Parts: sequence; structure tokens; C-alpha cells
Amino acid sequence: MNAFERLDYEHQLILPVLRLARTCAQRMAQPGAVADLMGQELIGFLGKFISQCHQVKEFNLFIRLLQKGRSYVIAPITNLHAENSELARIAESLDSAWGRARQGQAGACELVAGCFEAYAVLMEAHILKEDRFYRVIDTILDTIDLLDLKATFDQIEQETLGLGGHEHYRQWALQFAGATGADERVIFPGPSNSGPGEQAVWSLAVDHAAKASALPAPGAVS
Ligand SMILES: [Fe+2]
Repeated sequence: MNAFERLDYEHQLILPVLRLARTCAQRMAQPGAVADLMGQELIGFLGKFISQCHQVKEFNLFIRLLQKGRSYVIAPITNLHAENSELARIAESLDSAWGRARQGQAGACELVAGCFEAYAVLMEAHILKEDRFYRVIDTILDTIDLLDLKATFDQIEQETLGLGGHEHYRQWALQFAGATGADERVIFPGPSNSGPGEQAVWSLAVDHAAKASALPAPGAVS
């Protein structure tokens, strides 16, 4: 996978996780909920996988694109970078609200759900923009650029997630989908079968899961 395909693959992991998270956020934040560990991993997914890994890779891609001297990329990159900063800010607020919710602070569960909602809405629109942008500008970079980015992405992944960390979050996402009753085989296609058709089926499955979703009741999961 080249740089654009890797980012696209990560987008395909991020989107359904956020959609499922929105439906379960309030319940997960309840003190004593058995889904506590799943929720803690979800906070980690936003902070580590997205803020520290995915968005840092994109920052490096943006720098590389700006270095190519095409003025038409400046405005969209400025906008995307600002949105990435805003997403990271919401993720930090969410982390803080999550801690307060776990301590049983009044109103914190609602704040957690609200943060998830705000984060997911912005991220969905943001990824749509990025996907369009990447399709238009992917020819700006030459083979050397792409090889350099591959090495940079590998290094970022190694430093933030560690060896096997990417696969860890993918496996966790499958478990998370399973906990919400979604069909994980359909929701998270591998990188080789992630065309538009697959994505449509995948979105339908997430919608279906979201409507029927509820994490297992307290005590129902060991
Ligand atoms: Fe992205």
C-alpha cells in the first residue's frame, strides 16, 4: 500500500468505529459498566491511533505536498490541518470527560456522548474531504516521495503504536463491533476488498448494527 492507500485503509477503520461509538457512548460511560475496558480502548483509539499516529502521518503528507510548490494545495491543506487540530482538541476533552464519568460526576456521561457526537460528525465530513483531496492530488508525488513517506509512516507507527500496534487496534475494532452486535466480517473488510461496493454494504451493516445496538448489560460479559 502506498501512503494514500494506507490513509484510506485507516479511514475505513475509523469511520465505523466512530459510528458505533456514538450509539454506545452514554452507556459505556456509566460507572460500573462492564464495557469499561472497551470504552477505555476507544479513548485510546482516538488519542493514539487517530491523533498521534494517523493525523501525524497526514501532517507529514501535507508537508511533502506543500514542498512540491503547487499553490492550489495550500488552501485545502490549511483547512484539513485546522480540522485535524480541532479533532485532537475534542479527543482531549473527551478523555477528560471520560475520567469524570468514571468517577460518577454528574453530567459527565452526557458530556462524553456529546463529545463523541461532535467528534464523529466532524470526522465524517473531514474524511470525505480528505478522500476527495487525495484522489485529486495523488499524482503530485513521485516514486521517491512515496518511498520516503512509506518509511516515515512506518516510523510513526512504530513510535506511537509499537510493533503490531496497528493490527492490535484492528482486532480491537472487530471485538468492539462484535460487542455491539454488528457483523464484523462485513463491517471491517481487509485492505484488498475495500472498493466502493464493499463500502456501501459495510455502511448498511453499520446502520443496521447501530439501530439494534446495545452493549451487553452489566454482568452479562465476563
Ligand atoms: Fe485522515
